[in-house]
Amino acid sequence: MPKVFDAYRRVGKFAKFYDAMLTNTGLFGRAAMKFFWGLDAAAYEKFLAQAFAGLPTDFSGRLLEVPIGTGVLSLPRYRELDGAEIFCVDLSAEMLNVARERAAQLNLRGVKFIREDVANLPFPENFFDAVLSINGLHVFPNKSAALAEMRRVLKVGGIFCGCMYVAGINRRTDLFVEKFCTPQGLFTPPYETLPNLQKILRELYAQVTVTHVESFAGFVCTKGD
Ligand SMILES: C[S@@+](CC[C@H](N)C(=O)[O-])C[C@H]1O[C@@H](n2cnc3c(N)ncnc32)[C@H](O)[C@@H]1O
Repeated sequence: MPKVFDAYRRVGKFAKFYDAMLTNTGLFGRAAMKFFWGLDAAAYEKFLAQAFAGLPTDFSGRLLEVPIGTGVLSLPRYRELDGAEIFCVDLSAEMLNVARERAAQLNLRGVKFIREDVANLPFPENFFDAVLSINGLHVFPNKSAALAEMRRVLKVGGIFCGCMYVAGINRRTDLFVEKFCTPQGLFTPPYETLPNLQKILRELYAQVTVTHVESFAGFVCTKGD
């Protein structure tokens, strides 16, 4: 765990750059999204829609988001979810601090933040109506434990959704991941290809939809019995 842990301690301290890239704002953010991820403004909007495709804008019930990171993409949306009980988990205290500050600025009083490993979620089985995981599965060191835990805490009929990096689609993105994100500990191999991801999710879930925008795969899955 230490490599990913240290990596996001650093990111948490420079959250402005991270947030700019994720929100595709400013010169740096837009250049990084376009150059490394192949996303221009129109493709970025598709990426965003894909990431949240499984979460209705009027979602109510119990929602787990893991990893929350700085919450830059999701927390603003939670202002609209009056009927939801929301739990946000991340391993990094630094990332959680940024997310907590953001939630306070947004006046999101009911959202709970928990520092924990996704491979050891502190919730009972069949607890959540939805589990959202944005840009987590290419980061988590123990991917099979993460997948198993996120499924365990989800109710039968519940939705597992989000997005992740997949290899083999954009050569420049793959090089960026191999030469920068992986050595820095920001991402953890092995990386799935789109067909492999589909196969893994179909083994775990009853209904599975997998899409992609450049190297970002989006998934919406329903848990069966
Ligand atoms: C690329 S960020 C994504 C965060 C957020 N969803 C977003 O898109 O801004 C990856 C996050 O995963 C967290 N993380 C890494 N390993 C973890 C683990 N084992 N359990 C929980 N969170 C973890 C990191 O601390 C980091 O905040």
